[in-house]
Amino acid sequence: MAELERPAGRTPVPTDWTYAPAPESRDIVHLRERYGHFIGGEWVEAVETYETISPASEEPLAAVGQATPEEVDRAVAAARTAFADGWSSLPGSERAKYLFRIARILQERAREFAVLESLNGGKPIKESRDVDLPLAAAHFFYYAGWADKLEYAFPNRRPKPVGVAGQIIPWNFPLLMLAWKIAPALACGNTVVLKPAETTPLTALLFCDVLRQAELPPGVVNIVTGDGRTGAAIVEHEGVDKIAFTGSTDVGKAIQRRLAGSGKKLTLELGGKAANIVFDDCALDQAVEGIVNGIYFNQGHVCCAGSRLFAQESIYEPLVDKLKRRLETLRVGDPLDKNTDVGAINSAMQLEKIRELVESGREEGAQIYQPPCTLPEKGYWFTPTVFTDVAQSYRIAQEEIFGPVLSVLTFRTPDEALEKANNTPYGLSAGVWTEKGSRILWMAQRLRAGVVWANTFNRFDPTSPFGGYKESGFGREGGRHGLEPYLRFDE
Ligand code: NAI
Ligand code: MG
Repeated sequence: MAELERPAGRTPVPTDWTYAPAPESRDIVHLRERYGHFIGGEWVEAVETYETISPASEEPLAAVGQATPEEVDRAVAAARTAFADGWSSLPGSERAKYLFRIARILQERAREFAVLESLNGGKPIKESRDVDLPLAAAHFFYYAGWADKLEYAFPNRRPKPVGVAGQIIPWNFPLLMLAWKIAPALACGNTVVLKPAETTPLTALLFCDVLRQAELPPGVVNIVTGDGRTGAAIVEHEGVDKIAFTGSTDVGKAIQRRLAGSGKKLTLELGGKAANIVFDDCALDQAVEGIVNGIYFNQGHVCCAGSRLFAQESIYEPLVDKLKRRLETLRVGDPLDKNTDVGAINSAMQLEKIRELVESGREEGAQIYQPPCTLPEKGYWFTPTVFTDVAQSYRIAQEEIFGPVLSVLTFRTPDEALEKANNTPYGLSAGVWTEKGSRILWMAQRLRAGVVWANTFNRFDPTSPFGGYKESGFGREGGRHGLEPYLRFDE
C-alpha cells in the first residue's frame, strides 16, 4: 500500500470557524409577480393584495392576496360543493391515491420547496431541506395509509367525515403545518379551506401547483391568503364545520370564545414554554447538542422549543461553560447558505417582540450572554442568547419569546425539577436528560406536557401524536389520534 503523502511541517489545523460561503441557488424557484387565491381548482384574481418579502434581505418577492370575507365565502362554497359532489363518498383507497401522489410530488420537488421556504420564511436551507420537506412528505405518506383503514382505527364506531375544515396556520413551519392540517383532513374525507400565515404564503401557493399535478378534484383543497382578518372570516363562516388552528395563545382563546355554542369542532395548537431538564448523570456533551437544537433550531420559532433549561446544580457550571463555547460555533446568516445554523427572524414584528422580552430580562436582573457574532445589515436578525441567574418570576422564564433566547434555571432534586417545570400556564413539550431509565419514566409520568423527549429534543414523526395541555391547546395532530378531530361518530 502506498504511503500517505504528508505535508511538510505541522498538520494543518483550522484556526477559526470561518466557512467559505456555500450558497444554494435560487434559480429553481420561479415566482410570479402576483398571486390570487386558489379556489375550486382555479386561480382567482385577488381583490386586494399586499407584498410578501424575504426577511433576510427585506426584498419584495411577490404580491399576494388579502382575502375578503366574500373571497372566503367563495372558497367555502367550493369546498362544500366538492364535499357533496363525491369527495366525501369516495372509497378510502381512492382518496389514498391522491395523498400518495401529493407525497411523491413533494419529494420530487423538494429542493424547489426548500429554497422557497427559506427565501420567504428566513429559516436555514439545511433545515428546510432536511427537516421541513422530508417531514411534510412523510405526513402525506402516513395519512395516505390510514385513508382506507378508518374502520380499523375506530372499530364499531362508523367514522364519517366532518365536512369542510377551516385551517389556519402559522409562519414558523409553513409547509409542514400545511401538511399536518391537510393530510389527515383529506384522509378522513373532508374538504379544506386553508389560510397560510401572512408572512409566509409562498410555499402554500406553490403547493396549489402540486394539487393540480396530482389531479386532486377541484375544490377539495382551497387556499386563500391574508392576515388575521381573513382568518377571522374563516372562523366565522357558517359553512365551515371544523376549525384547526395553530398560532398564538391569544388568538386561540379568541377563536374558542367565538365558536362557543356553535357546534363547530375545534382543535388548538398554541404556545409553549418547554422545560429541558438536565440531570447530573447525563451524557453532558449530548445534552449540550440537545439544548442547542432545542432552542436555536429554526431561530427558536418553535412552539415546543426548549426555552427553559433546568440544570441540576452539581453540573451547572460545566454545562453552562460547554453551552457558551458551543454557541460560539453557531453560524448566523444567509438562510440560503448551506452552512448556516441560525437564519433570519421571520418578521420585523417578531424581532421587536424578542428584543422587548430580552430587554425585560436584563432589567429584571438576569445575566445575558451572547457570542461574538456579525449580523447582516439588512433584514431581521437576532444573536443567539443565553440568560443565566434567571428567577422563575421573570418574564423571560414565564412568557413565550419565540426566538433564539434560552433562560437557564437550576434545581437540586427531581421533585424540585418537576415542580418548577410544571410551573407554567403552558404544557406542550418537555425534555429529560439522564442515563437512568426509571427516572425518565418517573418524570415523563408527572410532567404536564403533551410530548416528553428523553435524551433528545425536537424530534418529530408523523406516527406520533403531538399537542398540548392547559394553555398550549387541545386536540392531537399526528398518529392515529390525529384522525379523530376530522371524524364524527354519530349514528
Ligand atoms: P397569530 O396567532 O396572530 O398568527 C397565527 C395565524 O393566525 C396566522 O395565520 C394569522 O393570520 C392568524 N390569525 C391572526 N389573528 C386571527 C384571528 N383573529 N382569527 C383567525 N386567525 C387569525 O400569531 P403571530 O401574531 O404571528 O405571533 C405572535 C406570537 O404567537 C409569537 O410571538 C409566538 O409567541 C406565538 N406563535 C405561536 C405559534 C405556535 O406554533 N404555537 C406560531 C406562531 C406564533
Ligand atoms: Mg397576531
